[in-house]
Amino acid sequence: MNKQELIEIRNDFPILAEKVYNKDLIYFDNAATTQKPRCVVEKIEQSYYHYNANIHRGAHFLSIKATEAHEAARTSVAEFLGATKREEIIFTRGTTEAINLVATSFGEAFCKPGDEIIVSVLEHHSNIVPWQMLCERKGLKLRVISINDRGELDLEVYKTLLNEKTRIVSVAHVSNVLGTINPVKEIIRLAHEKDIPVLIDGAQSVPHIHVNVTELDADFYVFSAHKIYGPTGIGALYGKEKWLNAIPPYQGGGEMIKSVTFEKTTYNELPFKFEAGTPDYIGSTAFAEALRYVQQIGMDKIAAYEHELLSYGTERLMEIEGMRIIGTAREKSSVISFLVGNIHPYDIGMLLDKLGIAVRTGFHCAQPLIDSLGIPGTVRASFAFYNTKEEIDAFITALKRVVGMLS
Ligand code: ALA
Repeated sequence: MNKQELIEIRNDFPILAEKVYNKDLIYFDNAATTQKPRCVVEKIEQSYYHYNANIHRGAHFLSIKATEAHEAARTSVAEFLGATKREEIIFTRGTTEAINLVATSFGEAFCKPGDEIIVSVLEHHSNIVPWQMLCERKGLKLRVISINDRGELDLEVYKTLLNEKTRIVSVAHVSNVLGTINPVKEIIRLAHEKDIPVLIDGAQSVPHIHVNVTELDADFYVFSAHKIYGPTGIGALYGKEKWLNAIPPYQGGGEMIKSVTFEKTTYNELPFKFEAGTPDYIGSTAFAEALRYVQQIGMDKIAAYEHELLSYGTERLMEIEGMRIIGTAREKSSVISFLVGNIHPYDIGMLLDKLGIAVRTGFHCAQPLIDSLGIPGTVRASFAFYNTKEEIDAFITALKRVVGMLS
């Protein structure tokens, strides 16, 4: 990314020019949510002003236009993920709902008492709790892949966990706390050797690295629009057709049915079988616009630049006495979690905020991971392609000041 490109990109994100407490905003909380380019916000406005009508139902002009835009958005998501069939893309409220959908419907169809589900210690709560709920409902057991000192999954442990009782494996592609990029292709391959399907939580990977579900051979792959510069409240579930056809609907209502009588309801075909109720057709078109925007820049270019930010940020953080970086995986995305001496992460986060710097502190919705590391939480700086090395310099200056005040 050259200087001119960065200036142009930053101009696309009006919020980056905001002041907080009279200071220039430095937004390093991109793993929580990303900022929105003008084109995404304008898409929402245009859709409401020009094409707003309920979709798949009306035979009038506006409804046809809105339906076309929503279905074109589905095709965009399918192409972005490298899915071969657009019917394999289900719009959900986000990653969390997508995992709940699979845990509920797959659990209903394929799990029985005594079966096992494999997750990893790195998971976000959204990839733990839905499976725990399934375990409680059906008498299953949750098995957990551990990590090494760098924060990488221990594949030898994983191999020992895979057995004839395993019904599904569900792991993050990228850890939201440690930034570790997990070897998901290998994880899937090992599970498939035993005919076990795999769900990949792509919430933290899709915005940062090129993902192709067909190359990965993932059975399910989920992500959220808001983490990839799109709107909140929408996301996608990719599922192989054979699985989506084999599991029951998640919710009942309009749209997901073929016919309804009080005696019997028959369900609609894919993808509608899993989309009960009026879908977020405004969100879906803005979601597709966000994907268009990042593709125009290029996912490989984004990944390379963010890697530069990661290396630069890591190197500069190490200048600080007592710095402890939590998560030093060899394959890492642009997330840096850290602690300084005995200072509580909340104190660092609070003072950085007063200096205009937004980072996240605490458990990051991954309490089992934080507990396993025996730490009170971390400060997390997470970068996006609109961040700059100058912002990292300002962050380091501010952090040195904060550490000086708190030591
Ligand atoms: N999952 C989001 C994060 O890591 C909210 O911050």
